[in-house]
Amino acid sequence: MAYERIRLESLKDKVMTAEQAALLINNGMVVGSSGFTKAGDSKVVLPAFAARAKSENLKITLMTGASLGHDTDGKLAEAGALSKRMPFQVDRALRSKINTGEVLFIDQHLSESAELLHNKNLPPVDIAVIEVAYIDRDGSIVPTTSVGNSVTFAALAKQVILEINTAVSEEVYGIHDIYQAEDYPYRNVIPIVAPWNKIGRKTIPLDPSKVVGIVFTDMLDSPADIAPADPKTTAIAKHILEFFENEVLLGHLTDRLLPIQAGIGKVANAVLMGFKDSNFYDLTMFSEVLQDSTFDLIDAGKLSFASASSVTVSKDCYQRVFGNLQKYRDKFVLRPQNISNTPGLIRRLGVIAINTAIEFDIYGNVNSTHISGSKIMNGIGGSGDFARNAYLSIFVTQAASKENAISHVLPMVSHVDHTEHDVDILVTDIGLADLRGLAPRERAQKIIDNCVHPDYREQLQSYFDRASERGGHTPHLLEEAFSWHLRLMDAGSMKK
Ligand code: COA
Repeated sequence: MAYERIRLESLKDKVMTAEQAALLINNGMVVGSSGFTKAGDSKVVLPAFAARAKSENLKITLMTGASLGHDTDGKLAEAGALSKRMPFQVDRALRSKINTGEVLFIDQHLSESAELLHNKNLPPVDIAVIEVAYIDRDGSIVPTTSVGNSVTFAALAKQVILEINTAVSEEVYGIHDIYQAEDYPYRNVIPIVAPWNKIGRKTIPLDPSKVVGIVFTDMLDSPADIAPADPKTTAIAKHILEFFENEVLLGHLTDRLLPIQAGIGKVANAVLMGFKDSNFYDLTMFSEVLQDSTFDLIDAGKLSFASASSVTVSKDCYQRVFGNLQKYRDKFVLRPQNISNTPGLIRRLGVIAINTAIEFDIYGNVNSTHISGSKIMNGIGGSGDFARNAYLSIFVTQAASKENAISHVLPMVSHVDHTEHDVDILVTDIGLADLRGLAPRERAQKIIDNCVHPDYREQLQSYFDRASERGGHTPHLLEEAFSWHLRLMDAGSMKK
């Protein structure tokens, strides 16, 4: 039965165990692997390599689409198997090794890794490990729940290991749109003018002579942890929906809005769920990850089409979508991440981007990645691809956390991922600040008035007033700008 998923006869003798495949990965290799926000990742070969690295001195550079599921990043990190990792991760154990300097991490815009590889600005990929639903008769491969960087890894890797996941239906054929732009200087226009345009092939081309191993698995993706909406995320969602309603009244947008990108996590889910009971209809998404809320909105008749690079959903939603593909297959498409996140397409389609910040400052600079300026949390992911090029770039965060010991609205962010020039709207549970058309001093007052937690309002106003007296286009008191972070470190609270 499983062998029928190898439709190219000559590859049938490449079947081996995960442990045998893991022996094909050598110390010092650059490994490219499928997997994007836990979806479509290597379920057995990378874990088998991690097990091997426990007793052997093995270190690899690992590139993926985005994060891996099933604690694979953690297993690799704990076994000491990673020397370098890119472009994104969300694992607690790996994060801690990155923050001690044991693992070097390149935190990269998700649209860029494939470009850098094609342009030979990264070391060549020695071996790729790619999860597939099946191998077609011409040797091309059908990916599973994500596309990520697999097209690039399949094209550029010297050798390829395929993991055929029999838990994924072969019916996924057709949900992917596989397109690669031409190499420079001959690059042409990417002909997408609406999220539902399909412009490529249904399978990923692969030279069968590069396949060195085929492994069978039947393990599903790690389910997404969907935290239920809470008063803060509900308040944030309400502010954003009211803002959209007002934009419609002003004639800036229609009830269909524009294609939406929403970052992963509970805030994005809450915002999208807010559309369910709204007057908006015929919505579309041009995003990188599709969560439960996407399919809930499709079911509610609110969302017509969603484009992304992966489907990362809860166990129930997984069964609902992949057990029922006939119903959903015309409603979504999965693309390579250098297409789903292409800056030019985001600008062309006029995407409304909603992403989460760790903190932002009074001038609108956003930190998405580093706690107190040094410790990486996850990575920039696709937030930068979308924020800079969006029609509207929205960042959300809670106003304060840890019993209000931490303010997420600050005099100066401790690390900048998105500059004041890339950010249009900031939202906390307290309120929303529309920064469009405002100069730095106007932005600061708007953010203080609308977004900061009441416990910190006076403190932030005092900072801004005293900085303004000293002068400048973007007034600051450099000796005080990071005092909030320092106070948190020394005294456990940012409060004065
Ligand atoms: N010092 C110490 N801790 C701080 C802090 C500070 N100055 N500022 C924030 N934190 C803590 C918070 O208290 C919270 O801690 P907790 O998890 O123990 O509650 C944590 O940092 C942030 O978590 P939370 O506010 O719950 O955010 P989240 O889980 O929604 O994730 C990001 C927020 C920014 C980390 C996440 O959205 C992300 O990785 N974004 C970048 C990638 C991205 O945007 N991709 C978009 C496309 S998918």
